[in-house]
Amino acid sequence: MCGIIGYVGKRDLASVLVAGLERLSYRGYDSSGIAVISKGELSAWKSEGKVQRLIDRYIKSIKISNATVGIGHTRWATHGEPTDINAHPQLSSDQKIGLVHNGIIENFAFLKKNLQPRYLFKSETDSEVAAHLIEAEFHRTHSFLQAFQKTLSQLEGTYALAIISEHDPQTLFAARLGSPLIIGLGEDENFIASDLVALIPHTRNFIYLADNEWAIISASEVQVYDQAGNRVKKAIKHLKINDSDLHQPAKGHFPHYMLKEIFDQPEILKRILSTYTSDEVELRFKSLAAHTDPLKKCEKFLIQACGTSWHAGLVAKYWLEEFAHISTEVDISSEFRYRKILARNHDILLALSQSGETADTLAGIREVRKLYNKLPVISFINRSETTMEHESDAIIPSLAGTEIGVASTKNYIAQLGTLFLFALYLGQLKGILTAAKIAEYLRAFAMLPALINKILAYRKTIKAISSRYATDKGFLFIGRGMNYPNALEGALKLKEISYLYAAGYAAGELKHGPIALIDENMPVIALIPHTSNYSKMMNNLEEVRSRKGRIIAIVTEGDKDVTAIADTVIPIPAIIEELSPLLTIIPLQLFAYDIAVALDRDVDQPKNLAKSVTVE
Ligand code: G6P
Repeated sequence: MCGIIGYVGKRDLASVLVAGLERLSYRGYDSSGIAVISKGELSAWKSEGKVQRLIDRYIKSIKISNATVGIGHTRWATHGEPTDINAHPQLSSDQKIGLVHNGIIENFAFLKKNLQPRYLFKSETDSEVAAHLIEAEFHRTHSFLQAFQKTLSQLEGTYALAIISEHDPQTLFAARLGSPLIIGLGEDENFIASDLVALIPHTRNFIYLADNEWAIISASEVQVYDQAGNRVKKAIKHLKINDSDLHQPAKGHFPHYMLKEIFDQPEILKRILSTYTSDEVELRFKSLAAHTDPLKKCEKFLIQACGTSWHAGLVAKYWLEEFAHISTEVDISSEFRYRKILARNHDILLALSQSGETADTLAGIREVRKLYNKLPVISFINRSETTMEHESDAIIPSLAGTEIGVASTKNYIAQLGTLFLFALYLGQLKGILTAAKIAEYLRAFAMLPALINKILAYRKTIKAISSRYATDKGFLFIGRGMNYPNALEGALKLKEISYLYAAGYAAGELKHGPIALIDENMPVIALIPHTSNYSKMMNNLEEVRSRKGRIIAIVTEGDKDVTAIADTVIPIPAIIEELSPLLTIIPLQLFAYDIAVALDRDVDQPKNLAKSVTVE
């Protein structure tokens, strides 16, 4: 998986490629590299670590003259450790062909066996096999184009590929199956990349390659072909998109993007409220105008998502069932696509994704399309112009703005906000909620930004509390009802950025196993605001207490009972139960952040993770 970029034209190749890689780093950042053809010869530079390391080790000191074409890659390791050798570009044995790859070549072991020992494999990657295979096919056919086509026909799995070769030193070859690839059109220059974000500084004209299409790209021409080798006439998409819509370079006075994004949350909820309501009294979802009939008739929602987006789906289930009386199943996408999906005529698929590129979630959509091609697909996506957007019947933008921190915070709030209003909208559409009830919910929603700001103002105290737990090795997070998914999300945040073990549980499940872990060394973070589950949560806290567990409780301001038995309490303002998850999550985000900072972790780009996971 990874981000790929390619360029053919007269600009300074190293800087175009490296700038692109920096923008694509959200797709992986454990190693990176570039390769160019200069004066007919291929040269490559690769380094483990982030793009900055590649720049420091090589790019600052190299001088590339008369280069014609180049490719670059930023990696999230699947096959082989993140080392210099496993970094892309991967080269053929004769070093005349270089390629970058996003995806997984699933039959690489079989292909490799057939090519060895004649072709010298250096890396442990699946991708390298494609470079050797092109070389082998070139030896047979003596035509680079034929070798490229022959190679594509043998690859199984998923790929976005960009290839350069000394055999055709003015041309970029590209192909796509399952992983995104976009061609950017310039004047006497052309680009390719995994994502618009890398192309937008250079052009607003794009061609989206479809699965099984491949392209021959020179500085003056782009030719696209289908699998059978027939020329395809592709539409050029002109996007009126601003760089700032896609990229947010400044973190202002905040030491990390994650902290800035936590502080962005009140403004995002204001934006969501004003976008999805008229004067904060009536719900309006313009993008759903053509779908009101299926939504009115909907009997079941199938929600599928990954990571933090999955947690948002788990919260949404409560709202959709309560406000719209629509039964809702929530699946992890990588499980969803491999189970027997049972859907009926009036069901609707909801896909949730910050990036709109997550491979598992896309595969879930495609599986449903294959089985039930009439089932509407509505996606809640934060980024614009994504693969998921193109594959959905309608989208509801999350409006979080560009999220840079790999651990998602502001998009979680944005997803919760949009899903809450969406559920109210359905309650309105189906006549289940009265106008008065909706107005009451919207008034409560409108209070959220101020209430979140109140929690954020409490930041120093939360920091002091968190620092007391930075030496602990494991944590349990517990909650019930609508706050149970936040126990999962709080634990996920802590794991992602502090590398400490944490697990989230529905508090009622404690007694079925996890309680065995509780002793004086185990901090238990309990979400216990004033909700209908309060007394049940209290019972669970007593169970923890009687086993000497250390309780950190997120409570409603003024709470006395929990305060009496907890080691520490973090108060949040009072709010109706249905909106409580949008407040209880804030101290958990800060808790994870402060512990990670205390441990000197790479908060915005934690090890082993990627912002967008584009492989299965
Ligand atoms: C990656 C990210 C997570 C994110 C998940 C789903 O694992 O590191 O933060 O929640 O993908 O991403 P999506 O873009 O589909 O919401």
